[in-house]
Amino acid sequence: MCWRVTVEDYRLIADALAGDIAAGRLRPGDRLPPQRAFARSRGIASSTAARVYGELVRRGLATGEVGRGTFVRSAAPPTQPALAEPAGALVDLELNFSVLPEQPALLAPALERLLRPEALAPALSPATVAGPPGARDAAAPVLARAGWVPDPERILFAGNGRQAIAAAIAALVPVGERLGVETLTYPVVKGIAARLGVSLVPLPVDSAGLVPEALREARVRAVYLQPTLHNPLGLTMPPDRRAALAAVLDELDLYAIEDAVYAFLRDEPAPLAAHAPARTLVVESLSKRGSPGLTLGFVVTPDRAVGDRVAAALRSGGWAAGGFALAAATRWMADGPIADLVRAKRRDAAERQRIAGKILDGYPLRADPHAYHCWWELPEPWRAETFVAAAARHGIAVTPAAAFAVGPAHAPNAVRLALAAPPVSVLARALETLAALAREEYAGAE
Ligand SMILES: Cc1ncc(COP(=O)(O)O)c(C=O)c1O
Repeated sequence: MCWRVTVEDYRLIADALAGDIAAGRLRPGDRLPPQRAFARSRGIASSTAARVYGELVRRGLATGEVGRGTFVRSAAPPTQPALAEPAGALVDLELNFSVLPEQPALLAPALERLLRPEALAPALSPATVAGPPGARDAAAPVLARAGWVPDPERILFAGNGRQAIAAAIAALVPVGERLGVETLTYPVVKGIAARLGVSLVPLPVDSAGLVPEALREARVRAVYLQPTLHNPLGLTMPPDRRAALAAVLDELDLYAIEDAVYAFLRDEPAPLAAHAPARTLVVESLSKRGSPGLTLGFVVTPDRAVGDRVAAALRSGGWAAGGFALAAATRWMADGPIADLVRAKRRDAAERQRIAGKILDGYPLRADPHAYHCWWELPEPWRAETFVAAAARHGIAVTPAAAFAVGPAHAPNAVRLALAAPPVSVLARALETLAALAREEYAGAE
């Protein structure tokens, strides 16, 4: 049958395929024909076929695996929160957030001033993505890093970092198109991409971070990466690699989304945005440096045109910040408690990292002394999944490498330990239990 389609009709074709899946004519694991063959068989343009497949991915009915094709999903999309909510374990080494004991007292005074009726009234009105007067000027010095100060005019506000990432991806990558990411990446990006109908293309990473040359063959519309304190690997890209990446972005006319959510834990190096100011969108958040419960996200855009696209995505996605959170965070940024918290959290992260290094001494732990997380390549005979299950039986939640892996490649036999949340004494006991598990003291009983 020959389909005469308008651009919008790709949804009708996707509906027909969704019907085939629902009726069992297409079964979980079935490989859909290559897009070009599908386009030929339906009498549609290749770009329409790409949209059809992107729509199936967006609906969670299919999954795109780079180099292998598009497959009918083998099961219902996972309902787990994918590192977005506490795991409910006794000791949570999975969700990496820190709320220091002194934090409420540090943050409360600025809120007291906000709770006066005349100050609260503006915060109860709808917020704009540019924030109320003063918000951008308060944010710019907080987001500034070595060699880089954002232009306040280029700052947009989101509800949190995840929403900032979603808006940046939505603004840069159309449905059905491809976004480059590091082979191991922040897991929520996988969920965001699936919901936006964007295919992730895993790009190789070496000891200096993402390999810029790989972008040449990747055919991506943009790249999302974490150059500083990468989650989960803890890597920080050195300046010369940032410069090389900037040159390739320029040459290929590509944008990068630089996730700098953990970068407040280190002074150096200058962000990718300092090397490629016209090509980089910086996404940031107050969840790690402030609190995950009352937070704010940021997108710093390179120019007005990209800024308009991100602003439109923030509005239409429902990802703009709430008025009260924006007002509270503006006070915190302007009055100084966020700067105090940054200093306290740097000390806290270094202390936790030191404890982890000591307790897990002798194991191949990949860790930056400034980071709130580390990457643990497990000793034989442990497999990441069985280790995670064994840890869970001791009430400890840790994350297997597979949660971060993109694409069909085998995930490394490793786990990420998030060190930020539990009290230090609880963390130390949990790490001792994990060390004993790794030594197989418990292995016979598993
Ligand atoms: C690398 C990275 N980016 C972004 C975020 C999300 O930030 P937020 O909690 O503000 O949504 C996280 C949270 O864990 C993260 O690890």
